[in-house]
Amino acid sequence: MPIQDLSGKVFLLITGASRGIGKQIALSFGSVLEKDSHVMLLATNLNALKETAKNIPSNISVDTVSIDLGKATEHELHDVIIQTLKNKPAAQFDRVVIVHNVGTMGDITKKTNEMTDINNWRNYYDLNVFGPAILNGVIMKIFNETPSAKKTVINITSLLGLQPRKSFGYYSSGKAAREIFFKVFALENPEVNVLNYSPGPVETDMYYQVCTETSDKEVQSSFNDLLVKRAVLTCEQTVNRLLKVLENRKYKSGDHVDYYDEL
Ligand SMILES: NC(=O)c1ccc[n+]([C@@H]2O[C@H](COP(=O)([O-])OP(=O)(O)OC[C@H]3O[C@@H](n4cnc5c(N)ncnc54)[C@H](OP(=O)(O)O)[C@@H]3O)[C@@H](O)[C@H]2O)c1
Repeated sequence: MPIQDLSGKVFLLITGASRGIGKQIALSFGSVLEKDSHVMLLATNLNALKETAKNIPSNISVDTVSIDLGKATEHELHDVIIQTLKNKPAAQFDRVVIVHNVGTMGDITKKTNEMTDINNWRNYYDLNVFGPAILNGVIMKIFNETPSAKKTVINITSLLGLQPRKSFGYYSSGKAAREIFFKVFALENPEVNVLNYSPGPVETDMYYQVCTETSDKEVQSSFNDLLVKRAVLTCEQTVNRLLKVLENRKYKSGDHVDYYDEL
């Protein structure tokens, strides 16, 4: 069955598309997009973004932009998108799809009592909470001038935004804040399809960071145990599930849907 949210001429923007889950979203979504769709891939590592772009079918145009999403201002974000749309006016797209995938773990060597440096908090929230909120607003403003374009916003969230575990003070609070922001956004914008997708445990650099850096031995051994039991998902597995979730559309806009939820 065709996936409604990826059909027609699509403008697709993915943050954190240089590796891990974001890269796989670019490859899997890219492979089902219709000709003349346009993909915009953002992250800091330009060479890795270009590698992702190379593997997207050639009838789709792709722009890669190296940008630090924790530092970019509203105006810089606006300008990079406008630059991309210069040769491809927003009005020619049937749909805009934004995937807020970028995410970092933060300092998991620290327990909450040690999280007293305001600069650490600011840096973490700048990238993981404020950045996605600002980027989202910038894109909505640009595409609201093209009311005929349908809109889909996917926020890559985490079970750790709902369930506390030791050493994830930055990560869990950031995920919870980001998710509730997109739930408010969904309520205020009923015409937009908003999905908070929780990808399950996925074998990426981020997963290995937990295995090696967490300050909590119990957390460390439970993450390592999943690896030993081969219960950690591949990027392909979780993105295939995301495609199924979009295809079935059983969720209400703004819902949190987990990899392990029934379809
Ligand atoms: N892996 C898991 O088990 C898991 C579970 C639940 C949720 N998630 C969520 O899934 C998403 C993707 O995670 P992942 O595991 O794929 O992580 P990952 O492999 O560490 O990839 C993170 C991505 O974010 C980009 N990035 C990091 N800092 C950036 C910055 N300052 N500016 C722009 N881009 C930046 C990285 O690109 P550059 O290095 O090129 O900048 C990379 O493309 C995250 O939101 C994460 O919280 C992951």
